[in-house]
Amino acid sequence: MISSSISAGARRLRPSSSCLGTLSPLAHTHSFQTRRCLASAPEGQGSSNIKAQSAGMPEYMEHWNRDVFRKVGYGLAAASALCVPAGEYAIAAALSAGTAGYWYVGLRDINQTGKTILRNFPVLGNIRYILESIRPEIRQYFIEDDHAALPFTRMDRAMVYKRAKGDVASKPFGTTHDTHATGYEWVNHSLYPTKIGEQRVAIGANNPLVTQPYSSSLLNISAMSYGALSDRAILALSGGAKLGGFSHNTGEGGVSRFHKEGGADLVWNVGTAYFGCGRFDDDGARVFDADLFRENAQHVKMIEIKLSQGAKPAHGGMLPKEKITPLIAEARNLEYPVQQDCNSPPRHSAFSTPTELCHFIGELRALSGGKPVGFKLCVGQPEEFTELVHAFLDTGIHPDFITVDGGEGGTGAAPPEFSDAIGTPLPEGLSFVHAVLVGAGLRDPADKSRSKVALLASGKMLTGVALFKSFALGADVCNAARPFLFSLGCIQALKCNTNNCPTGITTSDTNLTWGLDPATKSVRVANFHRRTVHVAVEVMEAAGVASWADIHPELLVKRIGQGKSRSYAEIFEHLQVKKGELLKGTGPQRLLEAWDLDDGIIARVV
Ligand SMILES: Cc1cc2nc3c(=O)[nH]c(=O)nc-3n(C[C@H](O)[C@H](O)[C@H](O)COP(=O)(O)O)c2cc1C
Repeated sequence: MISSSISAGARRLRPSSSCLGTLSPLAHTHSFQTRRCLASAPEGQGSSNIKAQSAGMPEYMEHWNRDVFRKVGYGLAAASALCVPAGEYAIAAALSAGTAGYWYVGLRDINQTGKTILRNFPVLGNIRYILESIRPEIRQYFIEDDHAALPFTRMDRAMVYKRAKGDVASKPFGTTHDTHATGYEWVNHSLYPTKIGEQRVAIGANNPLVTQPYSSSLLNISAMSYGALSDRAILALSGGAKLGGFSHNTGEGGVSRFHKEGGADLVWNVGTAYFGCGRFDDDGARVFDADLFRENAQHVKMIEIKLSQGAKPAHGGMLPKEKITPLIAEARNLEYPVQQDCNSPPRHSAFSTPTELCHFIGELRALSGGKPVGFKLCVGQPEEFTELVHAFLDTGIHPDFITVDGGEGGTGAAPPEFSDAIGTPLPEGLSFVHAVLVGAGLRDPADKSRSKVALLASGKMLTGVALFKSFALGADVCNAARPFLFSLGCIQALKCNTNNCPTGITTSDTNLTWGLDPATKSVRVANFHRRTVHVAVEVMEAAGVASWADIHPELLVKRIGQGKSRSYAEIFEHLQVKKGELLKGTGPQRLLEAWDLDDGIIARVV
């Protein structure tokens, strides 16, 4: 039944050559594309295509089976026995050893029950698994296209390595990008370049309740906790941030001794488990502890309440008790040895409505002695965000900053479905948040430095242009996580979730962390930061603006089809909103629809 409906569907679809043009926005991976093409192939072509694309076994293996395995084994044994009368003792010894190994592996394969391929194809079947296991390395070293994003391209990574090491990072001969391709983006430069100096952003400066505003760099290290990262990686990042005068976000694992030792300006990421500011209640749930918070808040410059992150929005984390070392327990204020797994639930227990979130922000600000307090989120349902902004206005308590994390952001570990298909990508999420805050009168599009709520953006901030693009879409400050890991020497081995990171960054295995020298790497972290910010400022100068606060979406253009291009002010109509406009009931239609909460969702919990 199922197969007949598939082939009927396949007949109706156009030939495979047209399938590229019909991809949905989600269909960006090669494998998805391949599946669409296969599904739409005319009858008769499907099977041959499937063979070409299959990840099966080499054909010679199909003639191999247990009988052949035994025959070859007896043959090997006989050959080694025959070598003895012939006086070939060395060959006999080598053959006997090989034969013993052959039988050992083969019988082990036949007797195990987990892998059918090995049971059916003893010994030879292992070749498949060995090749599978080194496939990523083969791809990365020999096959990967310079522009293939997995998830960062080789070109991107090479640029970070060069900037971090202080090597020449200029490019000879011109761009390797296809400037005529749909999706290509460029900055509209000016005939009158400007000259601008160091750029800092004063977070909390426009809120009288903030007595200790923070002067932020344009680029900072995004949240990654001690536990997700090794002690040496934290030391190197923090040391680099201190050298370069930028901030280092602790991640949800608390303010560890390594964060403090590094000496950087710290931003404290307060997650749903309240590590460093929480305890277990009688039911085993994690709850906020004001005294602990006050104590640890002394060591930080700003506090960021984590509502969600782009790589796994609305999904909690899990720290199995076996992984918790004494030092990790110390950073998280857990009693060691711990008796239970320490899970981060998907939502907070300290608040459950937008109004309660506002009061929690106010409480943290007071407990911290007047430091800027904000929250981090990946945009999901638009009305839920506008509902928060309504609460800011109703309570008169607003965050000093909001960090918008794009769905393209990174993580140590997440279910693939969450990383691949949940969470608004940064351009849409950031521009939407900026537009709503402008419409609510909390941000000033003409001079963003006068805004009451600063906007931080994260998600693949790897180049000066990525920073410029975020500023054009509303950000004041950018944060980066994985790009800084590259500056530490990350080779994108994609082993963050295994404790086997070969570069000692996302592992607690001391054999691997041993190789990471914090003193050397902190200089690289600072180099990467300095050069990236320098180029971002050069791009601003080329665009003829006076500062980050003047960058507007008309300066960024995208090719949206053959011979068609639009500025981001046209692509995202919501960016045309005027300051305070939503409060008067006017503004771009789709923004007004999200702003109007008369459809009964106002009581929805956060
Ligand atoms: C190893 C790793 C650990 C992370 N841990 C946290 C965390 O504890 N809290 C958080 O809010 N985000 C965390 N993130 C997400 C980053 O802070 C950031 O939002 C995201 O990675 C941005 O994308 P980028 O890596 O492209 O810069 C983590 C990311 C990585 C790669």
